[in-house]
Amino acid sequence: MTDVRKLRILIVDDQSAQTGALCDVLRQYNYEAEGCVSAEAAQQRLQTHSYDLMLSDLNMPGLDGISLVKAALQRDPDLACIIMTGEGSIASAVRAMQAGALDYIVKPFKASSLLPVLARAQSTRALRIANAELERQLRLNVIELAEANYRLEQARTAAEQASTEKSRFLSNMSHELRTPLNGILGFAQILAADKLPATQLEKQRFARNIVQSGQHLLKLVNEILDLARIEAGKVPLALEAVDLPAVLQECRMMVTPLAAKHDISLGFGAVPQLRLRADRTRLVQVLINLLSNAIKYNREQGKVAVACSEKEGKRLRISVTDTGPGLEPDQVQHIFQPFNRLGRDEEVEGSGLGLALTRRVVEAMQGDIGVDSKPGQGSTFWVELPLAQETSQQVQHA
Ligand SMILES: Nc1ncnc2c1ncn2[C@@H]1O[C@H](COP(=O)(O)OP(=O)(O)OP(=O)(O)O)[C@@H](O)[C@H]1O
Ligand SMILES: [Mg+2]
Repeated sequence: MTDVRKLRILIVDDQSAQTGALCDVLRQYNYEAEGCVSAEAAQQRLQTHSYDLMLSDLNMPGLDGISLVKAALQRDPDLACIIMTGEGSIASAVRAMQAGALDYIVKPFKASSLLPVLARAQSTRALRIANAELERQLRLNVIELAEANYRLEQARTAAEQASTEKSRFLSNMSHELRTPLNGILGFAQILAADKLPATQLEKQRFARNIVQSGQHLLKLVNEILDLARIEAGKVPLALEAVDLPAVLQECRMMVTPLAAKHDISLGFGAVPQLRLRADRTRLVQVLINLLSNAIKYNREQGKVAVACSEKEGKRLRISVTDTGPGLEPDQVQHIFQPFNRLGRDEEVEGSGLGLALTRRVVEAMQGDIGVDSKPGQGSTFWVELPLAQETSQQVQHA
């Protein structure tokens, strides 16, 4: 059984006998009726109580019915107001309706003629409320639609961007693959030709060139495959607690010959006894990439410094700072793009894949990578990775 709420009605008439009689009659018809003998009293009542309907006399000493309807509707726009008027003042009743009353009834009246007026007003009120709710729903739907459109547009832009990047990647890749391949074919054709190079020494030089181009090609193909596999999420990462001092020591050993070759001094600051949550082999790959860049793109007798610092959220930052040419802001924007060598193709050997690969590896390990650089002074490439769980516990106990 549903519990139907009684309709609440406020009756306003300066003739208290009339007010009382109306209340009694309406209570019999299952209304929750209350009476006020002035518009001022009704206004006060409306401040603390809410009603479905208000039945008000038009002419009252003090505030009249029209002003009361206006004030009541300002407070509750859904209140259904009906004006009671004497025979002579129908024109005023029309004014009351213009002020927002839903109907009027001419006095004197019988309960049988009042009840349909009240029912009509109540259904108009219910319709208005339902209408407002529909409008609200409509507005919500419009907002949701606009949001969905915005997300769709963003996804479309992202897809377009990804497709442009893929095309650029493919065209760069074929260019990069063609260069060493042409070298191999060119030298091999000379060796295979009838007119062989005159000396054994020349033959050896051509063969060495073939080997070098072959090695370069192999490195390229390996890196491209690695990049593609990481992008496809097909590289299983063995995330474990990696000892920071040990890993940095290993990297140091690995890059020392390159640093010596370029006459660059390596400085590893104090390394905290911490453990990172990372794939050890991949972490070494990341650090070697950053260190070899810092050595390759440096000035004569330059320096490379490695520093570690703990960051918020149980993370550790490893920074590699060089004394090289530094990077302009627009170079920083493009430096992680595959094959983008920032115009250094001739100066220094490389394929332009190191940083692109590094970034994807770092992100796959839930890390971040970035660069701070001052043109003319040098750059700092940094990676941030999560600390291993038990590391932070050890530190807390220490
Ligand atoms: N520390 C640095 N200082 C200045 N420029 C840098 C630095 N590191 C990288 N670069 C620039 O960014 C480009 C891209 O670097 P990335 O490591 O991706 O490729 P690469 O070193 O050219 O080739 P490889 O694939 O062998 O690493 C480099 O060619 C170089 O111009
Ligand atoms: Mg590199």
